[in-house]
Amino acid sequence: MMPDVGRRHVQLSRCTNVDEDTGMTLQIRAFRDGDRAEVVELWAEAFPDEPGHNASSDMIDRKLRVQPELFLVAIVDGRVVGTAMAGFDGVRGWLHRLAVRVSARRRGIGAQLVRSVEDGLAALGCPKVNLQVRAENTSVVAFYRAIGYAIEGRVSMGKHLG
Ligand SMILES: CC(C)(COP(=O)(O)OP(=O)(O)OC[C@H]1O[C@@H](n2cnc3c(N)ncnc32)[C@H](O)[C@@H]1OP(=O)(O)O)[C@@H](O)C(=O)NCCC(=O)NCCS
Repeated sequence: MMPDVGRRHVQLSRCTNVDEDTGMTLQIRAFRDGDRAEVVELWAEAFPDEPGHNASSDMIDRKLRVQPELFLVAIVDGRVVGTAMAGFDGVRGWLHRLAVRVSARRRGIGAQLVRSVEDGLAALGCPKVNLQVRAENTSVVAFYRAIGYAIEGRVSMGKHLG
C-alpha cells in the first residue's frame, strides 16, 4: 500500500523535509539501484501504454551510464512515489520520465521534482530545458503550464538508432 502523503502541498528542498502537520517525510534524491523495482512499478502505472519491465530496466541502465545525478526519485516514508530524468547535451537540457504515483498526486511532488531537475541542469550551465508531451495528454500540459512552461511552435521529430 502506498503511503498517504497528506492533504496539503509540502515545501521542500533537494534533501529531506518533514511536513509539520502529518509528520510525513519527503525526500528528493538521486536514484539508487535499490529503487529499481519500485521505479519500474511506478512507470508501469504512470505510462501504461509504454513497453514493459524490460524496457524500463534498459532505460534505467542507460541513464545510469550518462549523468546519473540527473535521475531523481521522490521518496515518501521510504517508498518511491515519483521520478524525473534529465540530461544536458551541451546546448539544451531535456526532461524525461516525470511521474508521480496516482496516490501521491496533487501534493506538489511533481512540481518539486521538476524544480530539482532544473536546479541540477542549471548547475551544469544549461540555459534552457525542453520536454515532449503526447498531444492527447492534456492534463500534463496543464501541469507544465502551471509551473511556467509554454507550448512552443515546433514539430517534434525523432528516429530510432540501431
Ligand atoms: C504530471 C504529474 C507528474 C504531475 O504530478 P503531481 O505531483 O500530481 O503535480 P503537482 O501536484 O506538483 O501539480 C502542480 C500543479 O500543476 C497543475 N496540475 C497537476 N496535475 C494536473 C491535472 N491532472 N490537471 C490539471 N492541472 C494539473 C495544478 O495547477 C497543480 O497545482 P494544484 O494542485 O495546486 O492545483 C502526474 O500527473 C503524473 O505522473 N502523470 C502521469 C505521467 C505523465 O504523463 N508524465 C508526463 C510525461 S511528459
